[in-house]
Amino acid sequence: MDIKHATALVSGANRGIGRALVEALLSAGVTKVYAAARDVEKVVAGDMRVVAVPLDVTDDASVVALAKRADDVTLLVNNAGVLDFGSVVDAPRAAFERNFAANFYGVLAMSKAFAPVIEQNGGGAVVNILTLVALASMPGLGVYNASKAAAWSLNQSLRAALSRRNIAVHGVFPGAVDTDMLAGVEMPKTSPADVAKAIVAGVSTVVEDIFPDPMSSSVYEAWRKDHKAVEKQFAAM
Ligand SMILES: NC(=O)c1ccc[n+]([C@@H]2O[C@H](COP(=O)([O-])OP(=O)(O)OC[C@H]3O[C@@H](n4cnc5c(N)ncnc54)[C@H](OP(=O)(O)O)[C@@H]3O)[C@@H](O)[C@H]2O)c1
Repeated sequence: MDIKHATALVSGANRGIGRALVEALLSAGVTKVYAAARDVEKVVAGDMRVVAVPLDVTDDASVVALAKRADDVTLLVNNAGVLDFGSVVDAPRAAFERNFAANFYGVLAMSKAFAPVIEQNGGGAVVNILTLVALASMPGLGVYNASKAAAWSLNQSLRAALSRRNIAVHGVFPGAVDTDMLAGVEMPKTSPADVAKAIVAGVSTVVEDIFPDPMSSSVYEAWRKDHKAVEKQFAAM
């Protein structure tokens, strides 16, 4: 995709990877970027190409209103997400509902609302920020894993459905990234700026499945060779 001619929309654009994605898109010469956030006051503007817009991906009315307003979008980045720690046997149902609401149903609602917009604008792309642990589950992140694995399946179905409408669908599988989401978790992490740059490069060169950091690309290689070995390795963490 030619980023320079794209009008992008990034959900969860006020912090973390979403904020870095806005910066990376601006650096790549994007025409315009809607920086969508639950609280627009928290969006860092400063570049005339940034338009801060309100969005709660779990609220259908908010999603539909934004699709009406941002009717020039050609590149949708479903970045907004939440993570509840805890094992599947201990976590309350509410934790599953919270994670599925944002990480699965949020992606579904946004993709359904914006597919006609992108199509009307001559085609483009949808980018879904998934996670490496969608491929193999880490038990301490059991709730989150399940919602993201479901989103990975959704990503594949969307790709099949939207390719006919001239819309490419990209899945992104980051490893550990240094944002609020993993605050307090001690492990090597990649900066959101580096991850965002790699995502934009992947979309520009039409890489369907993007592994945007050293951890994700090395685990992906191991998973391709022996997915059961990676499952066992993650299970022991
Ligand atoms: N950090 C990692 O290691 C990592 C690894 C793999 C994948 N990811 C994925 O990358 C994406 C971004 O994560 P991050 O690390 O940047 O996390 P983060 O710093 O916690 O930011 C999450 C963003 O999502 C927004 N958000 C949450 N629920 C929302 C909702 N219902 N509607 C609209 N926005 C909502 C948050 O808005 P508020 O400020 O209003 O809460 C915030 O802007 C997520 O999908 C995450 O699963 C992260």
